[in-house]
Amino acid sequence: MLNFDFYNPTQILFGQGQIASLANLVPAGARVMMLYGGGSIRQNGVYDEVMAALTDHKVLEFGGIEPNPSYETLVRAIAQVKAENIDFLLAVGGGSVIDGTKFVAAGAMLDDDPWSIFEQRSANIVSALPFGTVLTLPATGSEMNSGSVVTRKSTQEKRSFMSRKVFPQFSILDPSKTFSLPPRQVGNGVVDAFAHIMEQYLTYPVNAKVQDRFAEGLLLTLIEEGPQALANTDDYDVRSNVMWCATLALNGLIGAGVPHDWATHMVGHELTALYNLDHAQTLAVILPSMLRARKEEKRAKLLQYAQRVWGLAGGDEDTRIEAAIARTEEFFNKMGVGTRLGDYGLGPESIEPVIAALEAHRMTRLGEHRDVTAEVSRKVLQMSL
Ligand code: NZQ
Ligand code: ZN
Repeated sequence: MLNFDFYNPTQILFGQGQIASLANLVPAGARVMMLYGGGSIRQNGVYDEVMAALTDHKVLEFGGIEPNPSYETLVRAIAQVKAENIDFLLAVGGGSVIDGTKFVAAGAMLDDDPWSIFEQRSANIVSALPFGTVLTLPATGSEMNSGSVVTRKSTQEKRSFMSRKVFPQFSILDPSKTFSLPPRQVGNGVVDAFAHIMEQYLTYPVNAKVQDRFAEGLLLTLIEEGPQALANTDDYDVRSNVMWCATLALNGLIGAGVPHDWATHMVGHELTALYNLDHAQTLAVILPSMLRARKEEKRAKLLQYAQRVWGLAGGDEDTRIEAAIARTEEFFNKMGVGTRLGDYGLGPESIEPVIAALEAHRMTRLGEHRDVTAEVSRKVLQMSL
């Protein structure tokens, strides 16, 4: 097992009715800004429940945070936070709203352009406004991690940062609030969580038995419950398992003491920035080809994955590995997420702009061995056509 430093201060309140706890969780006397997305919370009752819990608080609202939250929108929120002397933020929504809130929390403490956070790799974040979240879409794990991904529309750049200053103080996870999700977002969420686990599990063995078995348990749960979540919009137990899986997939626990990959995510971010695919769509396209292209480096873990997750024990090694990758693809398709660039109208001409963007963003030494060069990414994209 590798050395690690695991830190996670986020309090989780899980279950139906927990939104009412906001009354006590949000500090009394705080000037609160509630941030949300395009309006789903007004249709599914979440907005009303949050407001009912905060009747004794001073709450300003900032709505309109887009999927793949934009820098252009978030700087407006930062200006408002400064103008109104806001001292507590509440994100109500999916990963985009939560990520956007993290950027606002850190950006509001800076005098210079908050885009500098990406240019300085978070080194200029010395403090951030405190914030909590009410999660409505299980997918990213943003509700219990310190990462954030922001898109600058004017330059088609999607960049991420991490800082211990932007862990949520608390997150409320009420699975019944996911009943209103459209099937596309249910599928996206399950695929994103699955990919997060794979990026931390499917590298090379370091004899980290606990992390491996946690990861395999989460993958098996998603395989079991994901299709159920699509089939039944209001099964509380199914949604509970999916929701907690997605949080545990990226809260630092399974990633402590093991190598990380993340090449699929980095190539995927460029696909979203350039062609506007949903985050999980990019992962469904890239992950299978990434595993095939890097089969030799990942051989031992691919065989473990084939056996323990998909129960594939027969045949020679290469047959088992290919079968496991094919099962992964089938699973993504079953979740309604296409696994080919062509499923999103993208052909061979789409590849070179992605390579140019990876080079511009210095994403040319990716993966657990830092050997995913631009050339490897090109090959992966060609295999994904
Ligand atoms: O905007 P509203 O109207 O709220 O609608 C949203 C949005 O259209 C809707 N939605 C959310 N909850 C709903 C709902 N609709 C009905 N009922 C509900 N309960 O779903 C749509 C997508 O929401 P979004 O927040 O964009 O999705 P997701 O949670 O998948 O977040 C994606 C973003 O997170 C980033 C991605 O890159 C992307 O920008 N990621 C963040 C990570 C992190 N912080 O650790 C890691 C991930 O790998 C990922 O990169
Ligand atoms: Zn992701």
